[in-house]
Amino acid sequence: TLEQIKARYLGKSGQITELLKGMAKLAPEERKQAGAAINRTKEAVESALTARREAIKRLALEARLAEESLDVTLPGRGETRGGLHPVTRTLERIEALFRSIGFEVADGPEIEADFQNFTALNTPEDHPARSMHDTFYLLDENGKVAEDILLRTHTSPIQVRYMQAHVAKYAHLETMPEIRIIAPGRVYRVDSDATHSPMFHQVEGLWIGENVSFADLKGVVADFLRRFFESDDLQVRFRPSFFPFTEPSAEIDVAFMSGALKGRWLEIAGCGMVHPNVLRHVGIDPEKYIGFAFGMGPDRLTMLRYGVNDLRLFFDGDLRFLRQFV
Ligand code: FA5
Ligand code: MG
Repeated sequence: TLEQIKARYLGKSGQITELLKGMAKLAPEERKQAGAAINRTKEAVESALTARREAIKRLALEARLAEESLDVTLPGRGETRGGLHPVTRTLERIEALFRSIGFEVADGPEIEADFQNFTALNTPEDHPARSMHDTFYLLDENGKVAEDILLRTHTSPIQVRYMQAHVAKYAHLETMPEIRIIAPGRVYRVDSDATHSPMFHQVEGLWIGENVSFADLKGVVADFLRRFFESDDLQVRFRPSFFPFTEPSAEIDVAFMSGALKGRWLEIAGCGMVHPNVLRHVGIDPEKYIGFAFGMGPDRLTMLRYGVNDLRLFFDGDLRFLRQFV
């Protein structure tokens, strides 16, 4: 409205503009007086417009301030900083400790082929050990269970992929360099209780050479655990077990001799000497090479390190829980 009023008086054909134009027709003696009167009028209109424009701006600002009613006396929210997830801290520690003894870090896909997850690991279609893992299968575009792909149930398929690539890379050498890797990653199983989550982590370990023994496995694992927990107050036991891809096989349990979880044994890994059939599957001669593998549960290690009694808490995303570790 204000702009319209301005146009009506001061625009190209506004009333005051017209008066100014009309001055040319006046007699010279009238012109001076009329010019002064018109200019006074013009200035008065201009200053009225400016005053009104300022008033409108001020009123708008006051209305906004009243509406937003900012209470500057409220306490501030503060600056919150992010932090690493406790399991991420564990994974970083594991990587650092194994790198320090000459292991490389490898990885592989979470959606895995049936061949790498099972068959190449000496677990064919009809093998009873398949039911040891409650597998999440995937649906194809027709909504049918896809035959050959699944969510990996462990990190062991990374062994297969790494060994295949290693063999191809050093095919020209008479003796291939040793394989010494760890492979961390997410894995999936239909599992849920205080020590099982449907999505969890594993860290695979693999050492293959011409002369690698079960004693080396025990040494590497025991030394790792002492350094990881920064404690000698820790008991480690190798409990005989079965995996189709290792022979002999064991599960590794640990218990603390003091503290919140005192005396409670918790399984943290499966392990064993890599089965000759697995080596054959990837083209490694089991008469010449031998080695060990393990598959560790870093979520369980995190439970033990921080004295947490339910592993699923790590994945609920509750900030009240997670903030304690920042
Ligand atoms: C395996 O998955 C074997 N692939 C391990 C292995 C690798 C053996 C190489 C021999 C050679 P197992 O199912 O026991 O084994 O799982 C290994 C570890 O993963 C367990 O000891 C435990 O620490 C952890 N784990 C297993 N299931 C869960 C789960 N649902 N939630 C959290 N951690 C789990
Ligand atoms: Mg087990």
